[in-house]
Amino acid sequence: MRRQALLAPLSLGELNLRNRIVMAPMTRSRALAGDLPGELAVQYYGERSSAGLIVSEGTQPCPDGKGYCRTPGIHNAAQVAAWQAVTAAVHAGGGAMVAQLMHCGRIGSHYNKDPGARTVAPSALRAAGRMFTDTAGMVDFDMPQELGLSEIPQVIGEFAGAARAARAAGFDGVELHAASGYLPMQFLSTGTNRRSDAYGGSVTARVRFVVEVLEALVAAVGAGRVGMRICPGNPFNDLSDADPRTTYATLLDAAAPLRLAYLHVIRSPDAALDAFALARAHFAGPLILNDGFDFTTAEAAVRSGEAAAVSFARAYIANPDLVARYRQGWPLAQFDRKTLYTAGAAGYTSYGPYCGP
Ligand SMILES: Cc1cc2nc3c(=O)[nH]c(=O)nc-3n(C[C@H](O)[C@H](O)[C@H](O)COP(=O)(O)O)c2cc1C
Repeated sequence: MRRQALLAPLSLGELNLRNRIVMAPMTRSRALAGDLPGELAVQYYGERSSAGLIVSEGTQPCPDGKGYCRTPGIHNAAQVAAWQAVTAAVHAGGGAMVAQLMHCGRIGSHYNKDPGARTVAPSALRAAGRMFTDTAGMVDFDMPQELGLSEIPQVIGEFAGAARAARAAGFDGVELHAASGYLPMQFLSTGTNRRSDAYGGSVTARVRFVVEVLEALVAAVGAGRVGMRICPGNPFNDLSDADPRTTYATLLDAAAPLRLAYLHVIRSPDAALDAFALARAHFAGPLILNDGFDFTTAEAAVRSGEAAAVSFARAYIANPDLVARYRQGWPLAQFDRKTLYTAGAAGYTSYGPYCGP
């Protein structure tokens, strides 16, 4: 196979990628006290800077948005300073990096949050399931508080503030995490949004929150630096939607005037729903496709024009030099599941570049 399409440079809005291999966002739970990325994160991301674009791990835009333990934030000066070291390492390696803004909404536990931080959602419906906490082990998700109509502009403002903070921290842009059952997807979906005000009820009302967040992000940092991640039909985190095809078509049509830098689409787990085709039909800009790609299928997707770029998550865990391995045809190392979310260097910065058979 000729290996070249994935290595061609690409512009996504204002983001300049030297190749089309994107590191997908991955929560790795190594943040330090104060929700700060530490020196290990500087090394981890710096070692992966040959990616055309790195999407950071999910990062909370405000204290309420934190769901899991040891996830980083991007909403205060100390966090901005800590992220500056990360983005400097990525830029020193020639890479580009966006911050993934992840507000977990009802997927959270007060054990993982700062004192006083709340667990909020479009509706007061507790998600079925449990999550890990450092202080109490496995616990039920919190019962969320329904966001009042007058609180919604404040939450949207927190997203905009986080986007400005991300730019101050040296990120090239931001990606709105609107997948995986977190706050934006909770607003989008019929199972989690039982509101009857301007933000719930009809599909137009259900997509309003995400569209207004995107508008605020665009106003904060410019459309050329804003992307969005979606996974239509994903039931992860106790999510359900009566008609995801209509929901996402409506969302993308409503967001079209914003001319986002890119749309990051995860393959739908619902075999009857072709999320890539749906995205292509309703989004005119570049697509980053994800989930289960290998080099052969990614090369084919870019070569055919189906994808502008392809993102890899699991392959990046144990292969910081994924781009070199692709270019040279070197084999991939396998990662250890046990250290995916454990604190410390083991399973995080312990994977080196390829050093021969
Ligand atoms: C350890 C781990 C953490 C993840 N954390 C995030 C996250 O913070 N945000 C997100 O959008 N997706 C997250 N994902 C999903 C990945 O970005 C990706 O969609 C998924 O792994 C499929 O891509 P792959 O086949 O290349 O691994 C995570 C996946 C893994 C394995």
